[in-house]
Amino acid sequence: MLTNTATRYGAVARGLHWAMALLVIAALALGLIGKVTPRNADTVDWLQVLYSLHKTIGVTVLALAVLRILWALSQPRPAPLHPERRLETLAAEAAHWLLYGAILVLPLSGWVMHAAEDGFAPIWWPFGQTLPFVPKSDTIAGIAGGVHFLAAIALVATLAAHIGGALKHALIDRDATLARMWRGAEAGGPEAAGGHRRTAWAALAIWAAVIALPFASAGRQQAGAGVAPGQAEAAGWQVQTGTLGFEVIQMGATVEGRFDSWEAAIDYDPQTGTGEVAVTIDMTSVALGSVTDQAKGPEFFDVARHAQAVFAARIARIDGAAHQATGSLTLVGRTVPVVLAFDLDLADGTATAAGRVTLDRRDFGIGAAYPDDSNVGFAVPVEITLTATPQE
Ligand code: HEM
Ligand code: HEM
Repeated sequence: MLTNTATRYGAVARGLHWAMALLVIAALALGLIGKVTPRNADTVDWLQVLYSLHKTIGVTVLALAVLRILWALSQPRPAPLHPERRLETLAAEAAHWLLYGAILVLPLSGWVMHAAEDGFAPIWWPFGQTLPFVPKSDTIAGIAGGVHFLAAIALVATLAAHIGGALKHALIDRDATLARMWRGAEAGGPEAAGGHRRTAWAALAIWAAVIALPFASAGRQQAGAGVAPGQAEAAGWQVQTGTLGFEVIQMGATVEGRFDSWEAAIDYDPQTGTGEVAVTIDMTSVALGSVTDQAKGPEFFDVARHAQAVFAARIARIDGAAHQATGSLTLVGRTVPVVLAFDLDLADGTATAAGRVTLDRRDFGIGAAYPDDSNVGFAVPVEITLTATPQE
């Protein structure tokens, strides 16, 4: 019962079909939800989980697809129940070829896009995040992303026809097409399906177009881009205005704090969305409501011994306005890895950035004499806003 005959789908074909149907539809739904979710500092954590799940399901689909195709090649295919309806039979067959293509093209293009991009949401597996022969490149990621997007559209259209067809067989024709795939029912004549070359070629032509179109449009964009030399280099930015605030939860009440004196050296290339930042904070400029002096004292920031804090990080664009600065913060003499999520908007030559990160004061040994979270909160949200213009 594991194998197919001319009149039935065996358990292996059915198991693979339904497991993959579930995974493909889940990947599709996650991809579409990701697409319509606004990307900013508030959503970046959740998008990371969503895309990691999306990619992990996607590469599972690819592994199963290879197994499935090898299996299908070794098996007879049950014949259509109404071969006399030629157009319908050809359409169903073309849809099957398109679906076989989709389970290869979608995960492969996604994987190439992922490998060409700087890390954001990792695939949850131990085999690394890169691909041999795929360098980090915005152009390659853009083309693979274009293929991925067109392929997703082709998949949605084909699935609508495929699922619609299955329902039509079940509800209108009332034949055993769906039952054959669903519970392995037997139906039809003794001849296995021959398959028509024309439908396979038609599906192949559609996949060739899906893959070729993004290449063609990337070529056009590059020819017309006319980037001035030097423009693609990371350039220095001068901070014009800015605030650096933080909050301390003391006995359940929020106390707002800020640093009035700090400097940021920023290199950022808007074309690639990458750069570096180094923020130097004058710790003596701290203000924390009525407890400013206590904050400067030896139990907390100990500014007499540690007059400066430094945050040094590499900037990477996540998507659109959403960016991350990944680096380390040296505070009261301790250096701790910190990832700052921020939004960056460019308008009229001015960059406006707003980001936040929640630190844990225990990582720096700050307030060790206050071991109770409800007295002086462990979590310290930090917010930074600034505007900057390119350096002359
Ligand atoms: C609710 C969703 C789905 C339903 C109701 C459904 C139903 C069916 C049925 C009834 C068949 C048998 C057709 C026949 O005997 O000619 C079939 C075959 C097939 N389905 Fe689906 N399907 C669904 C989702 C999917 C998805 C998501 C994919 C892949 C992306 C897929 C790929 C295929 C392929 C490739 C075949 C041909 C199998 C072969 O003959 O080797 N299906 N499906
Ligand atoms: C069956 C497999 C898959 C399906 C059906 C699928 C479908 C989708 C859809 C519908 C979108 C949203 C539209 C778009 O932005 O292009 C999307 C986005 C995305 N997918 Fe997939 N995908 C699959 C596999 C993968 C895999 C294996 C990876 C990576 C390892 C991947 C990486 C991505 C990424 C990075 C995006 C975001 C593109 C962007 O907007 O920047 N996908 N996918």
